[in-house]
Amino acid sequence: MSIQRTFSIIKPDATERNLTGAVNAVIESAGLRIVAQKRLLMSRREAETFYAVHKERPFFGELVDFMTSGPVVVQVLEGENAVMRYRDVMGATNPANAAEGTIRKKFARSIGENSVHGSDSPENAAIEIAQFFSGNEIVG
Ligand code: CMP
Repeated sequence: MSIQRTFSIIKPDATERNLTGAVNAVIESAGLRIVAQKRLLMSRREAETFYAVHKERPFFGELVDFMTSGPVVVQVLEGENAVMRYRDVMGATNPANAAEGTIRKKFARSIGENSVHGSDSPENAAIEIAQFFSGNEIVG
């Protein structure tokens, strides 16, 4: 086990319903520390860059529309095995398949409006964190 950082986004469907604190409570209850956090409106360019890996997917346009439709909260989470730990805490991408107690089971509306994003590997976590935070904004 090692202390890792992962990148999280609380998505527009959750900020719209005033669920930032409720999501953060699940994160903190799971033993992850929020070591950086800011609320912002993503530009189309930022969303397209962030999700570039999905640009050939049929849902790409819908994904960019949604992620720029309202405020998001971008975060850096820190803890033991944080990347996989947060993926467990989020639950499956499609809330219909998400386990009880997970963020997506509790809050997500659909596979698109699924309340949170989390990095899928430590390598991608580093890339995603660097897109939104400079080093002195992260305080562990
Ligand atoms: P996320 O973890 O942010 O990474 C890519 C996102 O694409 C994913 O969460 C989903 O919200 C979204 N996504 C995946 N599949 C679909 C789909 N079939 N329709 C709409 N959005 C999707």
